[in-house]
Amino acid sequence: MAYNMGEYYERAGDYDLEYQGQSEQDVPFWRELVMRYTPQRVLELACGSGRIGMELLHSPGSFELEGLDISAEMLGAYRSKLEREDEATRGRVTLHEGDMCDYSLANKGAFDLILLPFNSIAHLYEIEQQLEAFRNTFEHLAAGGRFVVDVFVPDIDYLSDALNHPSHVYVEDEIEVPGEFTMLLYTSRKYDPVEQLEHMLWTHEKFFENGEHERYLNKLDMHIFFPRELQLLFLATGFSIDAIYGGYDWKPFGKGTRQIVVGRKQ
Ligand SMILES: C[S@@+](CC[C@H](N)C(=O)[O-])C[C@H]1O[C@@H](n2cnc3c(N)ncnc32)[C@H](O)[C@@H]1O
Repeated sequence: MAYNMGEYYERAGDYDLEYQGQSEQDVPFWRELVMRYTPQRVLELACGSGRIGMELLHSPGSFELEGLDISAEMLGAYRSKLEREDEATRGRVTLHEGDMCDYSLANKGAFDLILLPFNSIAHLYEIEQQLEAFRNTFEHLAAGGRFVVDVFVPDIDYLSDALNHPSHVYVEDEIEVPGEFTMLLYTSRKYDPVEQLEHMLWTHEKFFENGEHERYLNKLDMHIFFPRELQLLFLATGFSIDAIYGGYDWKPFGKGTRQIVVGRKQ
């Protein structure tokens, strides 16, 4: 079966606009996490355009930060942000273009913290891909190092709508860039319960101040991770589970909408 991440991440500028609100929610969590664990060497898998990484660089700590992503466009946006930083900050960061299922970095075995934030794990569609990503990450950690994965807990009502009403269209957001354009975002969603796949169709529609209009469509598939399944991935690949949080406010697992699992290489 062919899965689709299509061209969704090719427009990194629109991605940053769309998810700037997300940063208010999750960035404080990641900053706090890094302060608690005081790592020396951090890797963010699926680092994208540096939405989180750039903030971590301005957090306490002088850790080296590496980022890995499959999208050249997202990494290009990250590099542009880094260019605006001073030399010392830029010198702490190394970016890699690659697939998290199949990566091998020079610092393999030397990372004490590896992060996989904001649902990016949902782009691992096949069981073998998921196992490869976890095994590989285990090898990249130093003894005692931690792997932290953040993904939403499946919402049964949402999935039921996506299963039973696949032709519904939802307005996701309206974003205004003053003096330039207003962007409307719509989705339709189909859920395949056998493959545990959500097939999303995103429509981005921009109304420019000068009267011009642009619309583009993107397909985006997400694997739906049920909680036991995610925990099993950690346990099947050598990790012990240190903690599971239910939200960015450190709620206990089960009290929130997220599953943030901290796996440890003992
Ligand atoms: C939801 S975005 C998250 C980006 C960033 N971590 C953030 O929080 O803004 C998902 C990212 O996963 C990347 N990605 C998807 N599949 C990947 C893979 N197999 N290996 C590495 N990166 C991948 C995409 O290119 C995209 O940048």
